[in-house]
Amino acid sequence: MSPTPAVLDGPALWSAQAHIPSVLGRQLVIERGEGSFLHTTDGRRLFDGTAGLWHANIGHSHPALAAAAHAQMLKLETYHIFGRFANDQALGLAERLAGLSPITDPKVILNSGGSDAIDVACKLARRHWQREGRHSKTIILSREHAYHGLHAYGTSIAGLDFNREGYGTESLVPDTARVPVHDVDALTATIAELGAENIAAIVTEPIQGTGGVNPPAPGYLETLQQLCRKHDILFILDEVITGFGRTGTMFAAERFGLQPDLVTFAKGVTSGYAPLGGVLVAPRIWQPFYRGDAATPIFRHGATYAGHATACAVAVANLDVLDGDNLLHRVTELEQLLDSRLKQLAARRPSVTDVRVAGFLGGVTLTEDIKAERAADALIELGFISRPLRGNTLQLSPPFITTDDELTAFVDAIDHVLSEEETR
Ligand SMILES: Cc1ncc(COP(=O)(O)O)c(C=O)c1O
Repeated sequence: MSPTPAVLDGPALWSAQAHIPSVLGRQLVIERGEGSFLHTTDGRRLFDGTAGLWHANIGHSHPALAAAAHAQMLKLETYHIFGRFANDQALGLAERLAGLSPITDPKVILNSGGSDAIDVACKLARRHWQREGRHSKTIILSREHAYHGLHAYGTSIAGLDFNREGYGTESLVPDTARVPVHDVDALTATIAELGAENIAAIVTEPIQGTGGVNPPAPGYLETLQQLCRKHDILFILDEVITGFGRTGTMFAAERFGLQPDLVTFAKGVTSGYAPLGGVLVAPRIWQPFYRGDAATPIFRHGATYAGHATACAVAVANLDVLDGDNLLHRVTELEQLLDSRLKQLAARRPSVTDVRVAGFLGGVTLTEDIKAERAADALIELGFISRPLRGNTLQLSPPFITTDDELTAFVDAIDHVLSEEETR
């Protein structure tokens, strides 16, 4: 028998999604941010080429958001929104979001982040059909390579199999199934096989993020929506990455002309200045819960920090910055620049097999002999943060305040790293 390996000595903090032996001793500890840059405790200054986990859209350490949090905490840190209680900030933010929503006349459920939002959307989809008396409609469909966070539902519908596996059953929450990424025929076949009478909803990111920056095949999302309507399946659009401007429109639903039944959001709603997420809900789903009679059902969901007043005040300040600084327009300019720079990169570097850009969101896929993990590490040494994604792909999704020169320097750094790797 081989001896049990020694337990490694590390900090008390258990890092997220980390292979601990690969991480210990080389952690990058961020202590300060300014605009598109970060500073580590060991004195590095790094360009945030991913906007953290696609969240820091307005850049780091913005004084207006700090001021909003400070002012709100001095007034009221928060108060819950259960039953007859509410707080003025949650009410105000929900009205503002309803006005921006791609769904007409939505209700807004607030919570603490993207995984939360996915849990709520999937629960509500199932609740909807139970309330309608269509009891067999319980299955949630998702797409291969999808990432919808890692709470119970996000884990269960994960299209990145390694996130779903290891819990003893096919999915943590029962009744889930996956379909290929862009394949309408396969989706149609799955619906026929499982039976539309058993399917509650389909969840999809408009542009897959963590799965490798995969924009939809032309017409795919529109057809998916049509199939949902035809088969009475709810259409849940996960806009946790794309919401609040990442694709140049407030929501990607606008870019692709979609009218989903439920939209999940998080990250960009506060640009990460406070943990906040939520779900936009279409009238056909919320109206039965708003009827005027005593038999009206209750949606049994909520959490202490749902509609957290300080988080909501920060979100409003963030939306003001997006609007006041015309950042959605800036995203459309940055998309064009990123697209042209990455196409040039692909033409120059034999190690690049594909580049994909949709909004200010780019993926650079590398040949198998050059590992995206290694390239990302080499980029850190040059002062740039990228991230290896599924499919040996590098992620580029900097803050919306990135200058043309900074973006060009980022792509040049990738070029440099790849040219070094190619000659190794
Ligand atoms: C599309 C998508 N959905 C959901 C989530 C989960 O969000 P959170 O990490 O805030 O729980 C993420 C996070 O990256 C995401 O990219």
